[in-house]
Amino acid sequence: MKMDDMKEILSIASDPSLTPWTENMFMRELQLSFSHNLVAVVKENQSDQVAGFITFWIIANEFQLHNIAVRWNFRRKGIATRLFLAMIQEAMDQGAYTGTLEVRNSNEAARKMYEKFGCRVTTVRSSYYSETKENALIMAVKLKEGLEVLHHE
Ligand SMILES: CC(C)(COP(=O)(O)OP(=O)(O)OC[C@H]1O[C@@H](n2cnc3c(N)ncnc32)[C@H](O)[C@@H]1OP(=O)(O)O)[C@@H](O)C(=O)NCCC(=O)NCCS
Repeated sequence: MKMDDMKEILSIASDPSLTPWTENMFMRELQLSFSHNLVAVVKENQSDQVAGFITFWIIANEFQLHNIAVRWNFRRKGIATRLFLAMIQEAMDQGAYTGTLEVRNSNEAARKMYEKFGCRVTTVRSSYYSETKENALIMAVKLKEGLEVLHHE
């Protein structure tokens, strides 16, 4: 992820199922040494387009997924899977062996994807999102198990 990608990233990040992130929030991530920020680029009509992004931290043997999204017209093509795998690889390279993330109860697409990676709900935060009073699910994964799940599909 680079500053040049910001316009495309902000339009993808404005998806209604996400808590909106501002340009300042992404800029802050780009300055943190433990924050990792990747984009998925797709070549379409001879030009490169940002199709999705992922933002995560690696701290103390654990990744924390903070944001992931794919532009609506590029969904169900395995792009988020590739981004998630890139995160697991980077986390394992840095010695991490577990990961956590948070997802809205109603976000079936994201939940299904995380479950595919072996993520399991560990905590339910009741009425966590102020605007909808929806529950947040905290999910966790052991990285090796996550990769094994995928390899057996
Ligand atoms: C969730 C999201 C990132 C998935 O991106 P994607 O590139 O379409 O995902 P993939 O094609 O890699 O799909 C991976 C798996 O996720 C699940 N999945 C993805 N979209 C789904 C949907 N609409 N309904 C049910 N399951 C879905 C499936 O298990 C899928 O595997 P399959 O295609 O083999 O069945 C995308 O829908 C998105 O950007 N949503 C808005 C932002 C968001 O909710 N981010 C997560 C915040 S916690």
